[in-house]
Amino acid sequence: MAEPADADAGPRNVPRRSLTAARGVAEPADADAGTTRDSAARVRELQAMLNHHSALYYAGRPEIPDADFDDLLNELKALEAQHPELVHPDSPTQRVGAPPDDTVFAPVRHDQPMMSLHNALDLGELRAWNERVHRALAAGTAGPSGEQALPTMEDTSVGAYAVELKFDGLAISVRYVDGVLVRAATRGDGRTGEDVTHSVRTIADIPIRLSGPAPPVLEVRGEVILRLSTFEALNARQAERGEKAYVNPRNAAAGSLRQKDARVTAERGLSFWCYQLGHAQGGPAFNSHMQTLEWLASLGLPVDEHGVCLDDLAAVEAHVTDYERRRHEFDYEFDGLVVKVDDLALQAQLGVDAKAPRWAVAYKFPPEERTTKLLDIEVSIGPSGQATPFARLEPVFVGGVTVATATLHNEDQVAAKDVRPGDTVIVRRAGEVIPEVVGPVLSERPEGSEPWAFPRDCPVCGQPLRRAEGMSATQCANYWCPRQIRGRIEHFVGRAAMDIEFLGERNIDRFVTAELLRDVVGLYSLDYEKIEQMEGFGEISVNNLRRSIEDSKHRPLSRLLFALSIPEIGQVNARVLAASFGAIDSILEADEEALAEVEGFGPIIAASVRAWFDDPHNRDLIEGLRAAGLRMEAERPGGEGEGEALPQTLAGMAVVVSGTLEGFSRDGAKQAILARGGSSPGSVSGRTSALVVGADPGASKLRKAESSGVPVIDEAAFQQLLETGRLP
Ligand code: IVH
Repeated sequence: MAEPADADAGPRNVPRRSLTAARGVAEPADADAGTTRDSAARVRELQAMLNHHSALYYAGRPEIPDADFDDLLNELKALEAQHPELVHPDSPTQRVGAPPDDTVFAPVRHDQPMMSLHNALDLGELRAWNERVHRALAAGTAGPSGEQALPTMEDTSVGAYAVELKFDGLAISVRYVDGVLVRAATRGDGRTGEDVTHSVRTIADIPIRLSGPAPPVLEVRGEVILRLSTFEALNARQAERGEKAYVNPRNAAAGSLRQKDARVTAERGLSFWCYQLGHAQGGPAFNSHMQTLEWLASLGLPVDEHGVCLDDLAAVEAHVTDYERRRHEFDYEFDGLVVKVDDLALQAQLGVDAKAPRWAVAYKFPPEERTTKLLDIEVSIGPSGQATPFARLEPVFVGGVTVATATLHNEDQVAAKDVRPGDTVIVRRAGEVIPEVVGPVLSERPEGSEPWAFPRDCPVCGQPLRRAEGMSATQCANYWCPRQIRGRIEHFVGRAAMDIEFLGERNIDRFVTAELLRDVVGLYSLDYEKIEQMEGFGEISVNNLRRSIEDSKHRPLSRLLFALSIPEIGQVNARVLAASFGAIDSILEADEEALAEVEGFGPIIAASVRAWFDDPHNRDLIEGLRAAGLRMEAERPGGEGEGEALPQTLAGMAVVVSGTLEGFSRDGAKQAILARGGSSPGSVSGRTSALVVGADPGASKLRKAESSGVPVIDEAAFQQLLETGRLP
C-alpha cells in the first residue's frame, strides 16, 4: 500500500517569538544561561502548551499554524536533549512526530492471551450458546459426584448479560504503569503481538496519562477503528495525491496503525473503543464486567455508550435485532454485538477453552462484503444509449441477498478499481440496495491477466460506442439503435410521461421488431389493421390502445417535455421549463443563456437542453408530434398540470428525501415539495428543515442529519408537513 506524503510538510515561516509573545507566554530561557530550574519550568510549560494544541489539532480545531507548533516542539526537543532527566513518557516529543523507530513491531508477549470469540451467526446459535452457558453453570454446581439428573436451562441463572457493539477494527492491548501509557501491542497470534506503542501514542482517544487514581499496573483491551467520516476523508486525500483508495475502514485502520512513521498514523485520525479490562494490579475489586467498564471510563478511557446490561435472553435478542437494523446509522462499522455474562464470578466459573472464553459470544451480522469470481465484464445499453459496464459474478450471498451482477458505473471506475475478468473481487452490499464491486484481491490475480478494455462497439446494434471529451459516460451514438428506439418509446408512454395504457415493453418490442413503430411519432399513425392481426390482439384491445393513444394528445406541455427523454430533464425540470417558456416554440428559440437562467438549471442543463433541441432528429420529432395534434403550449395557470396553485406551506423550507417512500416516486416527492414553495436539495446540511426517510435511506444523509440536529421524519409526518408546513 502506498504511503502518503510526509505529514511533516507545512508552512513554517512564522517566527516563534511572535507566537509566544502574543500569547503572553514567557520567553524561552536562553539555552546557555538557563538554570535547571528555569529549564524545568519551561519544559513543563511547553509540554502543557503542546499537549493542548495537539488535542485541538486532532479534534480538527487547530488554533495555531503548524509551523508555530513545530517551533514549540523543536524548542522542547532541544531542552529535553540538554536535560534528559526532564523527558517524561507523556511529553509531546514522545507522542507526535516521533522519528521512524527501528525498534517498531518488536514482539510483545501478552501476560494473558488475547483470545478470540466464538461466533453466533443467527438467533438460534445465540440461544444455543446461552443453553451451553446454563448447562455449564448448572453442572458446576451439581457437585463432583454428578448424581443429579442432567441440568436444564431452568436450573440456574446467569444473571445479567452485558451487550456491546462488536467493533470492526483491530484489537490492541494498552498497558499503563502508574497511570502512564507505557506500551501498546496488537493481538498478533493471541500470545505474542507487535509493539505499536509509537503509533498508539498518536491516537487522540487514548489517554497518555489516565485521569483519576490509577492503579500501579493496568492493562486494557479494545479496538482501534477509523470512523466512516474519517475514512471517507482519508480516501479523498488519497485520491488527491493520486494514491489508491483504501478498501474499507478496517484495512485503513490496520494500515494506519502498522506504520513505522508515527506521523503518518497521527494524520490518519484513528479512534479507539475500550471494551475489556485485561489486568489490573492494585485496583478496586469488582463484581461485574459493567462495573469494570464504568471504572475504565472514569479513568478517561473511551468506553462505548451503546453497551447495555440486559436481564434475559429475550431482551438480548430484541436488542441485537434492533442494532442489526440500525447498523448503518452510525459513524463507525460494527459487524455484530458481543454478549457477555456480566457477573465476573460466573465468568471465572465458566472459564475459557482453547480459543475463546465460554462466557462471551459474538453475535455476527450477515457479512456485507464477500469475495467471489468476476466471470466477465459486460456492457449494457440503457434506454438513452448509455453504455454501462457491469460485472458478471459467480453468485455470492452478501448483505442478505444473492448477487450475480453489479454495476461498474463507467470506464473510469473500472480503470480506477482495475478489476479484470478472472479476478477474485470483493463484493459489497451494505445499507444501500445496489451491490458494488469494491476491488480485486491482487494476491489471487491469475497470471498474465490484462486490464479490461471498453468494447468499441455497441453490443445491441454493433455501431461504434463514443465517449465525449470531459464526460464519464460512454454512449452508443446510433440514434436508431434498437435499444434506444425501444427506450425512447418506453419512456414516452410511461405513467409519469404521456401515460399511454395498453402498451407495455413486450408489445413495444413486438411493434418495433415488426417495423410498425420506429419512433414516438409513429405511435400516432399506427397501423391498427396489422396490429389486430397480431397474436393476443382483438378488436377490444386495439380500440383500448387507440383510445389511450388519442387521449395522450391532450397531456400538458410539461408531461410532453418529460416524455421526450431530454437528458437532464426529469419531471421537476420539465415543469419548470414549461412554466418558464409557456410553449415549445419559445424553447426552440431560447439561447443557452436564457435556458441557464431557468430556476435550478445553470449552464450544464442549459447546454444539454439546447443540444437536444438542435439535433435534427429531435426537430423532426417535434414537428411530427405537432402534426399529429399534440399540445405544444402550456395551459393558462390553473389548468391541469402546470402552475396550479397549491398552498405554499413549505415556503422557505428545505426538505431532503432519502430512501423509498410508499406514496411517492423519488421525483414525485420532490415535486410535491417544490409545488408547495419549498426546496429539495440533494444533500443534508445545517440549513435543512427536515430529512424524510423511507425504506433503505442513505446512511450518509442520516448521519449528517443526526450530527447537524436536522429532524428526521417518516412518510406520515411528511404528508402532514406538506399539508400544514409543520413538523410533528
Ligand atoms: S471481548 C476475551 N468485546 O472481536 C474476549 N471483543 O472476534 C475479548 N471485538 O479479538 C473480546 N468488539 O478484537 C470484545 N465489545 C467487544 C468487541 C470485541 C470487537 C473484537 C476483538 C476480538 C474479536 C473477536
